Amino acid sequence: MPDLTLQGLDLFADRIQTELAAVLQCSKDRIALDRPRAEDHGEFALPCFRFAKAAKKSPVELAGGLAESLRIADITASAVGPFLNFKICPIALARRITEDARSDAWGKRALGRKTLVEYSSPNIAKPMHVGHLRSTILGAALARLHEHLGHEVVRINHIGDWGSQFGKLVAGWRRWGEENEFKKDPIGHLLALYVRYHKEEKEDETLPADAKAAFQELESGQENDTRKLWARFTSFSLREFDKVYQRLDVKFDLVRGESWYESKLADVVDWLKKCQVLQEDDGAQIVDLSSEGIKTPCLVLTSHGTTLYATRDLAAACSRWEEFSFDRCLYVVGAEQTLHFNQFKAVLKRCNADWWNRIEHIPFGLIRFAEGKLSTREGRVLRLEEVLDRAVELAAEIIQEKNPDLKNKEVVAEQVGVGAIIFHDLKHQRQKDVLFNWKEVLSFEGDTGPYLQYTHARCCSILRKSENGVPESFDADLLTDANPLLVALGRFPDAILDAAEKREPTILSQALLKIAAAGNSFYREHRVLGTGDEQLEGARLAIIDSLRNTLRIGLGILGVPAPEEM
Ligand code: ARG
Repeated sequence: MPDLTLQGLDLFADRIQTELAAVLQCSKDRIALDRPRAEDHGEFALPCFRFAKAAKKSPVELAGGLAESLRIADITASAVGPFLNFKICPIALARRITEDARSDAWGKRALGRKTLVEYSSPNIAKPMHVGHLRSTILGAALARLHEHLGHEVVRINHIGDWGSQFGKLVAGWRRWGEENEFKKDPIGHLLALYVRYHKEEKEDETLPADAKAAFQELESGQENDTRKLWARFTSFSLREFDKVYQRLDVKFDLVRGESWYESKLADVVDWLKKCQVLQEDDGAQIVDLSSEGIKTPCLVLTSHGTTLYATRDLAAACSRWEEFSFDRCLYVVGAEQTLHFNQFKAVLKRCNADWWNRIEHIPFGLIRFAEGKLSTREGRVLRLEEVLDRAVELAAEIIQEKNPDLKNKEVVAEQVGVGAIIFHDLKHQRQKDVLFNWKEVLSFEGDTGPYLQYTHARCCSILRKSENGVPESFDADLLTDANPLLVALGRFPDAILDAAEKREPTILSQALLKIAAAGNSFYREHRVLGTGDEQLEGARLAIIDSLRNTLRIGLGILGVPAPEEM
């Protein structure tokens, strides 16, 4: 098994840093290597400005002097103005990559930290919408990124199953609920009740009164009819959500609805009291956050004594801290909830819970369709399953056209359709709004999931067609003409680390696109099979296998299936 800390280009970066630290007499982590301006200048660059003063030289002189005096195994240094560039010897690189990149441990680390990732968290009795899709896809990718780096990861689904809206739903059900309709399409029927409630509550005063009473019954903690109804709505909704999770191959260690923290709410309120941060405001209990630079106070209890979204998040955070003592707890939730997260973190800070800054909101932008933002209240929702179905349908059409004889066409269409949606999401910076365009999502060319899947399948096909696969020993020295592909592959471990640290899966997506582009150029320009040169074929098969394995692992982390044929 390769060394888990130094794989791919990282090994060479480490050699450069070690040598420079000795020469410049500073610690290794001060040697922050960049990429050279032009790719043919090498793989790493050091801007010499920071070190010039101590060396009593101009940055240009320092770079020039170092380029002449440095001796690093397998690496040549050259100066361009104040920059010191480093080029890895292509043979050394080829040997290294064809060994590291073909292993299951490629890109792995053993960082050994504990990271909780909360994601998806849809609301009961409503269809999961595309915002939840983003949270699910991003959160699952972040969880896998951290796992690959050797974190102990706990995946949590914080289902929205509590709150005053359930009072509304119960009130609506008691007036207009239809058992048959509910059985046919549970979420559809509940959504219709919710929409109708909002339409009629303005004209009919008894409606909001009933809703409030129902929520109080729910919060009373007693086993009553209201609670039975709620439990039934919940279990039917969870079953619907599971269908989506199965298609996306997403799993959770803990599915804990907001209601799970019910028994802990009173303790949290007591704790806030003890910390003397609660104050009364018009009958309600709030925490003033102006000392933390937040104008809007955090509402903890309503004037009727019922809890709020923030109360339940405070309880959940405390309970998670007690249970896991996490290094980090990530909440993958849309940017529109930023204030909420700032508020509840600020409450923890005011209570001197010194772990408050281990809580991290990971916000993301909206998915925009031509129709604009969709609202549940008005009943204008595009269901997630419809989006997936449509992607799969389109994928099936494309497969029928491009490869009509493919075995398992239906399975592959599902993999391509779902994979396309996932990759489309993860290719954008998470904070940016994503404009959804079907043509772009499913194209087999350009920066898409199907393009990466296709490149992977192409490698599998080359390896299948070769007589004996990759030989036991091969001459990596013959791969100097694959340098751009080797460099792109060599950056894979660093892309994983960087993507996890910045909570930005797009860094991995973009690295994979670069790798695939370099791979496609390589096999377009170089014959792999049938060159008549056994040595050359063996070496080229090894790099195709490195490409295959890197795409397989990378797509796996993103959650994009990688079929071997398509
Ligand atoms: N259920 C919420 C919604 O759909 C998201 C929950 C986010 N997580 C949290 N701990 N507040 O808007």
